[in-house]
Amino acid sequence: MAETSDVGYFIMLFMAITLEALRTYSNSKDSNRDNHVTTSPYLSPLFTSAADLQLRFLCPSDIDQVKDLCKEWFPIQYPEAWYKDITSDPRFYSLAAVYQSKLVGLLIAEVKQSDAINKEDKGILDGRMYSNCTVGYILSLGVCSRFRRQGVASLLLDSFLNHVTQSENQTCKAIYLHVLTMNSAAIRFYEKHYFRLHSFLPYYYSVDGKCKDGFTYVLYINGGHPPWGLLYPFLEKVLKYRFIH
Ligand SMILES: CC(C)(COP(=O)(O)OP(=O)(O)OC[C@H]1O[C@@H](n2cnc3c(N)ncnc32)[C@H](O)[C@@H]1OP(=O)(O)O)[C@@H](O)C(=O)NCCC(=O)NCCS
Repeated sequence: MAETSDVGYFIMLFMAITLEALRTYSNSKDSNRDNHVTTSPYLSPLFTSAADLQLRFLCPSDIDQVKDLCKEWFPIQYPEAWYKDITSDPRFYSLAAVYQSKLVGLLIAEVKQSDAINKEDKGILDGRMYSNCTVGYILSLGVCSRFRRQGVASLLLDSFLNHVTQSENQTCKAIYLHVLTMNSAAIRFYEKHYFRLHSFLPYYYSVDGKCKDGFTYVLYINGGHPPWGLLYPFLEKVLKYRFIH
């Protein structure tokens, strides 16, 4: 009798987990960019006309400004070669927001083959389904403090998302990035843009000689989705419960 009720209990538990997994997965599909028309960000009244703020790609002569901005915005140091690459190598999608001839925002991203994803992030895609696909990786995104909360980063991100969802980029199934767990402004920003917490990366960063934890955030596009698995939909909730308060 006890055995029968145990079996019944496990069947009910299994059904509850399955239903929750389906419900959460369908919600996560709803929060994919595929199912949302990204609203054009409304720039703040600080920019009195659309011509006030312009977007353009970086060029080699921007290198000194870019270095100054990155030093101001990010607690990690980039090597010299990185600055040279992002301002000259067309493999990077290096976009600047320019206000009165000055760079006020930057988004540095790249689209790469899925087999070039680092070991710690391999799990963002189901390897069997996506062996020939590409992914977008956001290396950096920053806006000058005076211009924050005016929609500048949203504008930069939207430009990249439009690029990776164009018909010639349909092989790009996900956009991902890393962020310090303590960077709540960036986390809120990415969550507002439907990125979802994928994994926790302990001691991922070195900031002022100290190890700091990071998160991987992912946005699925062009029909991409997380690896199939019953427990996958719960991971975000567990990670958030554990690390974000
Ligand atoms: C994160 C960052 C790029 C956001 O740039 P931004 O131009 O201010 O972003 P937007 O104005 O487009 O913000 C859009 C939404 O993001 C969220 N957001 C942005 N900054 C936020 C903050 N400080 N606190 C809470 N939510 C914030 C809000 O939901 C905001 O919408 P709202 O203003 O209508 O509430 C900017 O704060 C920054 O440069 N930070 C320093 C560099 C950095 O940490 N980069 C990220 C590395 S992964």
